[in-house]
Formats: sequence, C-alpha cells, structure tokens
Amino acid sequence: MRVAVLGGGAWGGVLAALVAGRGRQVALWEPDGAAAEALARQRSNARSVAGFRLPDAIDVSTDLPVVVAGRQIVVVAVPSQFVRATLRAAAPAVADQPVVVCASKGLEPATGSTMAEVITASLPDARAVVLSGPSFAQEIAAGLPAALVAASTDAGAATLVQSCFGGERLRIYTSDDVAGVCVGGALKNVIAIAVGCCDGFGLGESARAALITRGLAEMGRLAVRLGGQASTLSGLAGLGDLVLTCTGDLSRNRQVGLALARGESLPEVLARLGHIAEGVGTALTARDVARRLHVEMPITGEVAAALHEGKPARDALNDLLARDVRPERV
Ligand SMILES: NC(=O)c1ccc[n+]([C@@H]2O[C@H](COP(=O)([O-])OP(=O)(O)OC[C@H]3O[C@@H](n4cnc5c(N)ncnc54)[C@H](O)[C@@H]3O)[C@@H](O)[C@H]2O)c1
Repeated sequence: MRVAVLGGGAWGGVLAALVAGRGRQVALWEPDGAAAEALARQRSNARSVAGFRLPDAIDVSTDLPVVVAGRQIVVVAVPSQFVRATLRAAAPAVADQPVVVCASKGLEPATGSTMAEVITASLPDARAVVLSGPSFAQEIAAGLPAALVAASTDAGAATLVQSCFGGERLRIYTSDDVAGVCVGGALKNVIAIAVGCCDGFGLGESARAALITRGLAEMGRLAVRLGGQASTLSGLAGLGDLVLTCTGDLSRNRQVGLALARGESLPEVLARLGHIAEGVGTALTARDVARRLHVEMPITGEVAAALHEGKPARDALNDLLARDVRPERV
C-alpha cells in the first residue's frame, strides 16, 4: 500500500513520517511553494514541530495529481475549510476506491458538514476513515505514547488504518461511529477556547472542570443529533481529546482563549500562532448548525459571539454563569 499525505504542516508532516517509519512508501503534498521547498531541502518548514525532520525517503511536491496518483491510501491534513477543494482537485488522479483518512478536525464553514461528509461528497467511491483522538503533533513526533481512534463504516478500512499508523507507542482503536468521532474532534477545539479564557481570567480549576463537563454535554447533544452515539463522546475522540485540548498548553485553541483573556485581538493571536486554530471557525459554524437543528449549545454560542461579534470574553463567561439552573442533563 502506497500512501499520499496532503498537507505538509505540523500534523501532516508528523503523520507522513510516522507512516514512512512503518515501512510504507509515502509522498507528501504541500501547496505552499516555499514551504514545500523547505521540506524537500531542509526536511522541515516553518510550520513543522520543533526539532522535526522529514525522512529522506518521502518525496515532497506541490503537484497534487502527481502525489496522489497510484496511492491506495490518501491522508488529508489540511485545515477543514480546504478539505473539499483539495479532494476535488485530487479526484481525477486518485486510485479507485481509495482509503481516505481524514486527520483534519473541524466542520466545513460553508456547509456545516462533518469531514466524513465532505470526503464522501468529494470522492463518492472513497472508503472514508476519520483519525482522531488526543494527539499533539509534537508529542507524537517525539515518540511519546498516545491512543487514537480510526472511525469508519467500512470495518476493513478502519483496520487498515489501524495497522498502517499503529505501533508499540501508538495504539489505534477502531470505531464505526463516524459522526460521533467527527463531532468530538471538531467541537473540543471550541470548548478549549472557552476554557483558555476561563483560565486566563483566573476563574479557577473548579470553573475549568465545570466548563469541560458542560462542554462535553453539548458536544454529545450535537453528536446524537447528527446520528452519532453519546457513548463515543466518552472515548478518545470525545473526552480524551477534550481534556488534552482544554488543559494542554501546546493546544493552539487553548492559547487563543488565554490570549483573548489578556486582551489581545483575534487577528493578533492568529498571526502569532502561525498555524491553523480550527476552533475559531468551527465555533461559528457549529453555532449555526446547532441553531438550525435546535440543539442547545450555550458554550459554543458564547465562544462564537466572543470571537466573531466583538462580545467581550468576560461578558461571554458571565452570561454562561447567569443561565438558569436546571436539572443536570448529560
Ligand atoms: N497539530 C496537531 O497537533 C494536530 C493534531 C491532530 C489534528 N490536527 C488537525 O490537522 C489539521 C492541520 O493542522 P496542522 O497543525 O498541520 O496545521 P498547520 O497550520 O501546521 O498546517 C496547515 C497545512 O494546510 C496547508 N494549507 C494552507 N492553506 C491551504 C489551502 N488553501 N488548501 C490546502 N492546504 C492549505 C498548509 O500549507 C499546511 O500544509 C487541522 O485540521 C488540525 O486540527 C492537528
């Protein structure tokens, strides 16, 4: 099985190196000419995690059809708003019934679709697998232990991804709850922005635990409304990734919240990060989806208002605290 990885940023680079390290032949597509040149020559670029070196055996190219041609497994690691355009551009050159592994975590801004829905719409004969769960690229690159989940309605495709990516230090579980895993990966970034704000204002660890727990409850409501299972949100792609992203300082989305609490503007924060922080776009998209589907998602709504409508972050947190108290629904 030959593998193409689309996106030579922090996560795409690490995934490409991981799969090459398991003995697969890997080609990497990086759309930015200068970043591709740096990856090809210096074996890392400005987005790569600190100390990262792309294995010499991995070919790097800006030519998408060349990278995907003849590859049975295509891994997508570009920001979620670009997944559809990337796969559509790749479509004419992709093998029949490719296994498409989505490593991007977000909802598509234009449509509110999950990444699995975007894959199926862009490449109807693809065997879509969503790879998610608690994973900082920097830690995976360092070979630290982690556990992920590969979700697909095609059990054979999920098992293939398990064997292709998994190893001694990286446990890959399989799941058939694609919607639940997609929602977990997308929404945890939004809750992490809220938690970053909460911590930035010094509201304490009790408040942080409350936000994480109520965040998980609203993630679960959306997942179920989209056809997922509530129990999936207790797993790696739900609670696991939520805890990591809300509490780990390597999380860009948590950093966005911390910076907003310090009074930085959103454009300032995003420019400083230099990487995608998916929760920023997903907050707005998820709020729209929740309104359309009548799913109650108060934390997501306040994060969207703070990021995109100029609502002061402190007011957003205060408004959450001022909500009526009711029996706890999880
Ligand atoms: N970094 C992590 O630890 C990590 C872990 C798990 C999942 N993810 C997810 O992986 C995805 C990528 O994250 P990252 O950390 O590698 O981001 P990054 O900002 O480091 O890299 C983004 C990549 O997208 C490419 N890109 C930019 N504009 C594009 C466009 N218009 N069309 C196609 N590609 C474009 C960039 O050239 C680059 O290769 C995100 O959805 C993120 O949530 C990241």
